[in-house]
Amino acid sequence: MFLADLPIYKKLTRQRSITFAKYLAPLISDGSHILDFGCGNMYTARQLLHLKPNLKITGLDIIRDQNLSNDILSDKRLSFQLSSTNIIQSPDDYYDGAIALATLHHTPDPEFFLSELKRVVRPGGFIILVEEMAVNFFDKLYICTEDWLLNKMKEGVPVPLNFRYHHQYKQEFKNQGLVIVFQGSVRPFPTMMHHYVYKLVKQ
Ligand SMILES: C[S@@+](CC[C@H](N)C(=O)[O-])C[C@H]1O[C@@H](n2cnc3c(N)ncnc32)[C@H](O)[C@@H]1O
Repeated sequence: MFLADLPIYKKLTRQRSITFAKYLAPLISDGSHILDFGCGNMYTARQLLHLKPNLKITGLDIIRDQNLSNDILSDKRLSFQLSSTNIIQSPDDYYDGAIALATLHHTPDPEFFLSELKRVVRPGGFIILVEEMAVNFFDKLYICTEDWLLNKMKEGVPVPLNFRYHHQYKQEFKNQGLVIVFQGSVRPFPTMMHHYVYKLVKQ
C-alpha cells in the first residue's frame, strides 16, 4: 500500500497538474506533437489537452505510474511508452517539442538527458523544463528532503536526488546551444519550493 493509492493524494496531485497545465499551456502551440519525458501519471498531459485540444502527447517513463490508468490512455491524443534503456528511444528531430516536469533530477545524468531531449526535438522545436534548482546549500537540503519524502509515497520511482544549482543549468543551456525564450517559476503547492520554468529552443 502506497500513499499514492489514496483518493486525497490523487486529488492533490490533480490540483498540482491543473496548476502546471495553466502555467504551461500558453507556452505550447496547439497542434504540436510533444514528448512528455518522465510522464508519471500523465495527469498534467490530460489537463493540457483541456486547454490545447489539438495536442498529441507521447508520455515516456521508466515505470508505469500506479495512477496512470487505462481511462487516461483511452484518449487517442495520449500515448505511453515504457522506456527500457537509458536513452530516449526516438529518432532524431522527431517531436515538435518536449516537456520534462520535475523529472531531470530523477535521472542518473540530467545533462545527458537534456541533450537527449534536444536530439529528439526538431530544429526550431522547444524543450520546456520545470525543475527544482537550488541557489544555495540550504535550498538543496530542502528540495532533497521534500523530493525524497514525496516520491517514497509512490511505487518504483527512482530518487537519486540529482538536483543541480540554478547557475549550473544556465551554463548547461549555453553549453548545449539551447536558447532561452522564456523563464519563470511555478509553485505546485503553497508549501512547496517554487520550480524554475525554462522554455528552450533548439536552433
Ligand atoms: C517526480 S516524477 C514526475 C512525474 C511527472 N512528470 C509529473 O510532474 O507528475 C519523475 C518521473 O521521472 C521518471 N524517470 C526517472 N528516470 C527516468 C528515465 N531515465 N527515463 C524516463 N523517465 C524517468 C520517474 O519514473 C518518474 O515517473
